[in-house]
Order: sequence, then structure tokens, then C-alpha cells
Amino acid sequence: MIDLRSDTVTQPTPDMLKAMCAAPLGDDVLGDDPSVHALEEMIADIMGTETALFVPSGTMSNQIAIWLQTAKGTAIAIEQNAHIYHYEASAPALLSGVRMKPILGDRGVMNSKELQKAFPPDDPHFSPITMVCLEDTANKGGGTVYPMDTIKKIHSIARAHNTAFHLDGARLFNAVVASGISAKERTKFFDTISICFSKGLGAPVGSALCMPKSMKRDAIRIRKMLGGGMRQSGLLAAAAQYAVKYNIQKIEQDHHNTRIFALGLSETEIHVQAPQTNMVYFSHPNAHTFAERLKERGLWVLALNSDTIRAVFHLGITEREAHEAVHIVKDSLKDQP
Ligand SMILES: Cc1ncc(COP(=O)(O)O)c(C=O)c1O
Repeated sequence: MIDLRSDTVTQPTPDMLKAMCAAPLGDDVLGDDPSVHALEEMIADIMGTETALFVPSGTMSNQIAIWLQTAKGTAIAIEQNAHIYHYEASAPALLSGVRMKPILGDRGVMNSKELQKAFPPDDPHFSPITMVCLEDTANKGGGTVYPMDTIKKIHSIARAHNTAFHLDGARLFNAVVASGISAKERTKFFDTISICFSKGLGAPVGSALCMPKSMKRDAIRIRKMLGGGMRQSGLLAAAAQYAVKYNIQKIEQDHHNTRIFALGLSETEIHVQAPQTNMVYFSHPNAHTFAERLKERGLWVLALNSDTIRAVFHLGITEREAHEAVHIVKDSLKDQP
């Protein structure tokens, strides 16, 4: 089965498992797991932030960032297709007491003029915006890479309104590889950055929230409240370290495979968005039925709604399988009733 549902489906490789088994462990809730410390230092160094915190998931990382930097009864400005807006079960409302204000964008990239218009007047009828949140790459936008000048523009608007600036960088390293711009440079305007090890990097579990040192104590306390304090989590941190060391360099191949698949689909009647990173979004008038037919033939994709299908490439997929996936789609189109 060629599984293109998500880049979260990867399995740890034998070498990654070896690194996990060799990791020195402690009790991270008591603050003494050396492998977690090593990962947090490594990530802070790559991102150019003062510190980082290892957490179980991207959702928890984003939610800690929101909790830390907003106030109850205020709002966060977020692009209309963002993961935090659609797929984190309204956690900002429950956990931080904030409303999410969706901002129009194009393929997941926030429109700065729309953001500018979204700030309410200083009037007690309205909830002030206390955070602006971007997502790079933008998942639901199609794996879009944020243009640096847009990040810069939005940062100046956020600063002019005195708001926090958070990046959901679940797939930041896909953006880094696609743009050739370092992680430090891409993220230098943000106050907090969440990155995931369990997406394009291929680790089984885990994310990191990158932040200034002044936030870390509170971040650890919030992680504890959310049930995210883990004991011998060095086992997982070692997998994440392995992923950062050896798998960033493999992302270019994922992007290459993605282009093979998109190009193959563009030779059919299917409407396909040109991919920028590791995702292909394409249309079909009966998306659920067509996805079922593809699955019967050995290609597993996600029908996101009645007319949109998503395929995501990752390090579990070879170039040969990308070509094979194109054949499966073409054959399935031929056999349509
Ligand atoms: C852009 C983005 N942010 C955050 C998350 C949440 O990550 P997790 O599933 O680890 O909670 C995801 C998950 O797919 C994502 O795509």
C-alpha cells in the first residue's frame, strides 16, 4: 500500500530505533533527562532562540504558545485555513479563553491588508487581538511556503498593534528546504515557534516550542497542566534528534516525488494545484468514492471533502512509488463508471 494520507504515517527506521535504545535517560518531569536536554539545546541552536521545550504534540506546542501570550476575552488573528483554526478542536477557546478571528488569505498565506482591517477600534465592545499566528508551510493551503516579505509585513503590523507573533512551523523544514532560507532566518521575527518532529522529519512522536528563556518556566507549568510532562522521554527525544540530524537532507527527495505525482496528474483531466513542498491537493467531483477506488488499487489518500483529495509525500515513499501512484490514478480514471 502506498500511504499518502499524511507525512505523519512514517515508521521509525532501524537506525532511528538504535539511536533510541542507546539514549541516556532520566526523569524529565524532575528535569534530569539528558537526551531531552540535548534535543532542546540542539533545536534552540538551529532556530536561534534562547531555549526550546520538548512536548508530545504540535497541538500542545501551539496551545502552550497561545496560553502564554494571550489573555482571556481577547482574540488571536489566524489565517482562515490554519490548522489551529480548523483542527485543534477549538482548544484556544477552552484553554486560553480566546476567540479565533479568521483572516482571509491565498493558499494559506495571510493577506496583510485583511489583517490590518481586522484590528478593532479601542472600544470595550470588542475583543482586542493579542496574537497573530502564521503557519509555514501552510498545510490546508497546499503545503505553501510563506514569502519572507509577507512574514515581514505581517510582523510590522503585529508589532504596531503590540501583539505576540507565533509560528506554527509543523513543517518549517519543508519551507526551509524549498526556499533555501535557513530556519533561523525564516523565523527571526516570531516570538514563539512550534516545530514538529513527527511530520516531514519522520520521528514517531514530539514537537518543540522555541521561545525566550523568560517563558520557559511557565511553559513547563502549562505543559504539566495539560498532562504533557513525560518521564523517560529521552527515548523519544533521541528519535527526534536522529530525525533532525539525518532526515532534513531527505526532504528534497520528498519534494521531488511530490512534483512527479503532480505532473503525472496534470496530464489527466484532474485539476491539480502546483505543489511547493510535499503536498498535492487535487479535485474530483466524487472525492470520497474516488479515494475508495484508489485505495482498492493500493493508493491511500485522504478525501478532505466532497471534491478535494490530498496526497502527502514523506520519507516512507520512494521515487518508484511516486510513479506507481500516478499509474494507479490514471488507471482508476479510465475505469470510472
Ligand atoms: C500545520 C499543523 N500544525 C499542527 C499540527 C498538530 O500536530 P499534532 O498532530 O502533533 O498535534 C498539525 C498536524 O498535522 C499540522 O499539520
